[in-house]
Amino acid sequence: MPQLFSPFTLRELTFKNRIFVSPMCQYSCADGVPNDWHMVHLGSRAVGGAALVMTEAASVTPAGRISPEDAGIWNDAQMHAWAPIAAFIKSQGAVPSIQLAHAGRKASTFSPWRGHGKVAEDAGGWQVIGPSEVAFSPSYAQPHEMTLTDIRATIDAFAEAAKRSLQAGFEVPEIHAAHGYLAHEFLSPLSNTRTDQYGGSLQNRMRFPLALCAAVREAWPTELPVFLRISASDWKDGGWDVAQSIEFCKQAKTVGIDLIDVSSGGNVADAKMTIRPGYQVPFARAIRESAGVPTGAVGLITEPVQAEQIIGDGDADCVFLARALLRDPYWPIHAAQELGAQPVWPDQYKRAGVNAFGK
Ligand SMILES: Cc1cc2nc3c(=O)[nH]c(=O)nc-3n(C[C@H](O)[C@H](O)[C@H](O)COP(=O)(O)O)c2cc1C
Repeated sequence: MPQLFSPFTLRELTFKNRIFVSPMCQYSCADGVPNDWHMVHLGSRAVGGAALVMTEAASVTPAGRISPEDAGIWNDAQMHAWAPIAAFIKSQGAVPSIQLAHAGRKASTFSPWRGHGKVAEDAGGWQVIGPSEVAFSPSYAQPHEMTLTDIRATIDAFAEAAKRSLQAGFEVPEIHAAHGYLAHEFLSPLSNTRTDQYGGSLQNRMRFPLALCAAVREAWPTELPVFLRISASDWKDGGWDVAQSIEFCKQAKTVGIDLIDVSSGGNVADAKMTIRPGYQVPFARAIRESAGVPTGAVGLITEPVQAEQIIGDGDADCVFLARALLRDPYWPIHAAQELGAQPVWPDQYKRAGVNAFGK
């Protein structure tokens, strides 16, 4: 059997295969409340055979949204709206998962098809916060440096969001510490110039992200896993890099993180990235080997043979697919056909697996 279709267990939760839906903002909410679009979008990918279906970044506070149309999990209305979506995903044999996020200095921006850069405060935007008063770029908002009270409140917001996620029926929360959003901003010396216990040394820069991990873990049942998404590199000299990522992941593991979802970039506008198929896979492998924690690989993984090789070679324990799954929600079923595994159509679609000659 192809390794891509072998089951995988973390704590007491078993995934039916190694294909996970990567978080993807849909920019389609009002007041952070998911709706029919999210049910059909996420539900289709559960029907399509992915083992885990993760929501888009769900903000833990209103100010943590990337755009005004982002999803949220900071109130009960959002929790109640997520519940049937999580239940449907689970009914299809997939694990429902939610990404918990705060966009920090990259909040209050236009969603991609509505504009570019910051949404002004008098046009539906809001004051953004970050570790330091360093803007992402001239077209982004100028952040307020977070006070110790802001830091405490944000850690509490992640814990509250985790509790609501559990009530909504999600089985895996993922803490978003990648792509230049708040937790990543604390990690990188390019965005964090603080002089208190949350800035300066590596240990100080990791303090806030590790506190988020600990708070979410504490709110989550022991038998269920917690994921962490990181950017393994800023792709810029003097920034966050693989060596620091390995140390961070080692410590994240000790506070109860079960899998690292290894992405990269997003924290500086002038990063020098080389983008090619599987370009982030070596990061997933380095962290898996050196931090001794399961990893997921992501980024330009599009072909079944490529995904099979990543799992078979031990580069990562699972693959997160984003755009390939937008193009084809049935990617896992098609991959099973291509790799010679048993394709699992839902009962209602079984006849799709039979050709014109009844075979
Ligand atoms: C439409 C879209 C929305 C995205 N939104 C998120 C998000 O909410 N959270 C996140 O961590 N990454 C987000 N990403 C990044 C993807 O999860 C993924 O890491 C990236 O697209 C690379 O994978 P791919 O080559 O399979 O698309 C988004 C990507 C796309 C295409």
